[in-house]
Amino acid sequence: VEDVFTMNPEPSRFTYIDRARLDHKVRQVLDGGRHVAIHGESKFGKSWLRANALSKKKLARVQCMPGMKASAVIEQALGQLGVTETVSISVENFATRTDEGGGTLGYGPAEISVRHGENSGTRETAEKKPVGVGTDSLAWVAQQFRDNGSIPVFEDFHNLSTVDQFAMAYVMKALGEWNVPCVVVGIWTDTHQLKLYNGELDGRIEDIRLRWNFEELRAVVTSGCGALNVVMGDEIVDMLARAAYSSVGLLQELCFITMDEAGVRRRQLRSQRIENSEAASAAIGRAVEQISSRFEPFLRKLPEAPAGEGREGFYRHLTSALGGRIGEGELLEGLDVDDVVGALLIDDPDLGRSEAVASLKNLEAAQRAAGIRPPVLAYDEPRERLILVDRRLLLFLKEKPTG
Ligand SMILES: Nc1ncnc2c1ncn2[C@@H]1O[C@H](COP(=O)(O)OP(=O)(O)OP(=O)(O)O)[C@@H](O)[C@H]1O
Ligand SMILES: [Mg+2]
Repeated sequence: VEDVFTMNPEPSRFTYIDRARLDHKVRQVLDGGRHVAIHGESKFGKSWLRANALSKKKLARVQCMPGMKASAVIEQALGQLGVTETVSISVENFATRTDEGGGTLGYGPAEISVRHGENSGTRETAEKKPVGVGTDSLAWVAQQFRDNGSIPVFEDFHNLSTVDQFAMAYVMKALGEWNVPCVVVGIWTDTHQLKLYNGELDGRIEDIRLRWNFEELRAVVTSGCGALNVVMGDEIVDMLARAAYSSVGLLQELCFITMDEAGVRRRQLRSQRIENSEAASAAIGRAVEQISSRFEPFLRKLPEAPAGEGREGFYRHLTSALGGRIGEGELLEGLDVDDVVGALLIDDPDLGRSEAVASLKNLEAAQRAAGIRPPVLAYDEPRERLILVDRRLLLFLKEKPTG
């Protein structure tokens, strides 16, 4: 069972579902010299897709952490090739443009200087040129990846600050021009922000948004059951697939616990049957218990999180609207700022749009201050949308013990 329904970083060959031939697509795009952006909510299979699709390729993989600078990202990627150089990337004139709605969009013309090798043979002076107009240093960086035959992979790219994502967009554009396609993995729900940061990336980057439909989720369950020689009733498969709220990671967990509840340990010669829903119900109950250590503090602490530049009381009202005035459907789709304001007006009639935006911008910091990591909710700033990144919250809200 552990090999079949698993949360391991290594994809299971028994339950890996290659939906819509995405594996092939990832390889095809990279072979064609274009970048790939794999994005989707937490536990949607971004890392498994990267691992499975590129299992035969040489990768220079960097796990982006909050607070990491673009220069550190490139340095670590080079480090994977055994190249130790200091790289400095500075973004200047990071422009914020005000859009018609009064919100600020974090993009505009920038000057980036890249230099490497303070102590290397090929000394360079600090340049201040926009990347992509032939900065020697970036050509050098690109050369390292080409010589090594490695594909740079930037995982959890969303952890980088807006400024550093912005800088990376320019670096990636230049790497693309030097024939070094990159893979970017992170949590977004819409088209990749990189394109907003650097319009020239449009057409040079293939967006792969991970979504799971009901049939694909069912396929995870049935292929695992097949591997274990377990016969599971259709309604039970449906029940598990529904409870996962399109988080394939949660589904794997639910299946694993269901097997345990049903007493299935390993494949047997004679098929084992799971025909009543008790095991699955019990599994859902156990899963809710497990995740309550994440969501119970989330619901308790977010209301008290520091307001920052935002409005006092905003997080309290937001929390109480979750699962109520802000319903399941909206949370699954994501809401724009006006929907959020609309949902909170009953509790806070004076709430203004710009205050709501300020509070939403502070959401990441507020969750961090409240000890909620990784974040459950996120604000997609370029698009001004609130997104539920951890879908397990929906299962928790639905099934949590009342009282
Ligand atoms: N293609 C797939 N087929 C079946 N199960 C999958 C697939 N992809 C992912 N899973 C399940 O979902 C779990 C989470 O996947 P993965 O770690 O790739 O998600 P992620 O999107 O990278 O999450 P995070 O945002 O936390 O980095 C896996 O451990 C596995 O159980
Ligand atoms: Mg991942």
